[in-house]
Amino acid sequence: MAIRDIRKEGDEILRKKAKKVEVIDDRVLTLLKDMAETMYKANGVGLAAPQVGILKRIVVIDIGEGLIELINPEIVSQEGEQTGTEGCLSIPGIYGEVKRPARVVVEALNGKGQKIRVTGEGLLAVALCHEIDHLDGILFRDKVIRYVDPEEKE
Ligand code: NI
Repeated sequence: MAIRDIRKEGDEILRKKAKKVEVIDDRVLTLLKDMAETMYKANGVGLAAPQVGILKRIVVIDIGEGLIELINPEIVSQEGEQTGTEGCLSIPGIYGEVKRPARVVVEALNGKGQKIRVTGEGLLAVALCHEIDHLDGILFRDKVIRYVDPEEKE
């Protein structure tokens, strides 16, 4: 396993659309492990492959309830609305309020190629939306309705 470099805003790879994973091979499995390690090291709750310079539709999330690995994730339904403060490992030190669905259902493949379904509410819904946005070159900054001083973040 290895820690990978996290790309920062301004790196054009963050603005590109990631490609669907067609084959779950050793490279993909290594990437999943590296992404999890990189996310934990950076104290993040989520990381998308483009953030480590790989244009594949792969996401890892851990909001403190265990690691979720998602390959080719898609939001299949969403409902409600919530506004919460977000940050991003690719945009250090910047926080802002973003409107997201209150609840989302995501379908994806796990590392074994099995179809999985994740239902997220609250922070998990936010993380799922934020990370899946990364796969389409969208940064939370594009959706900020109000920037938040890091001091008032707590
Ligand atoms: Ni992010």
